Amino acid sequence: MPTTFVEDLASEYLIDGDEQVRRQTQMKKLCNTCHRSSRVNQHFAKMDNTLVETDKMVYAATQLLLTAGEKGIAEKNQSIR
Ligand code: HEC
Repeated sequence: MPTTFVEDLASEYLIDGDEQVRRQTQMKKLCNTCHRSSRVNQHFAKMDNTLVETDKMVYAATQLLLTAGEKGIAEKNQSIR
């Protein structure tokens, strides 16, 4: 899921949760024409997990940049706030 730089899920200008489910269900139907549904579900579960992990990493890097900006180590106007 796309997140904002402060770890909230991004929502502005994006499709909402219901629409995401609707589209993913539609896409899974296509995958299921060739694959067992267990394999398809496993694929999406793995991808969800990957996104959670990468969101955490981006959040940690963002916090580091903000701290560097506050401490004057990085130029404030180069930080994201
Ligand atoms: C037209 C048939 C077809 C469709 C539709 C299809 N796949 Fe596949 N998929 C394959 C084939 C063929 C392979 C290769 C299998 C192999 O080499 O063992 C594969 C491989 C994979 C693999 C394993 C890749 C790997 O390296 O281990 C995953 C995961 C996968 N598909 C997920 C999906 C998902 C998710 C969708 C829907 C978005 C999808 N597939 C749609 C035919 C299809």
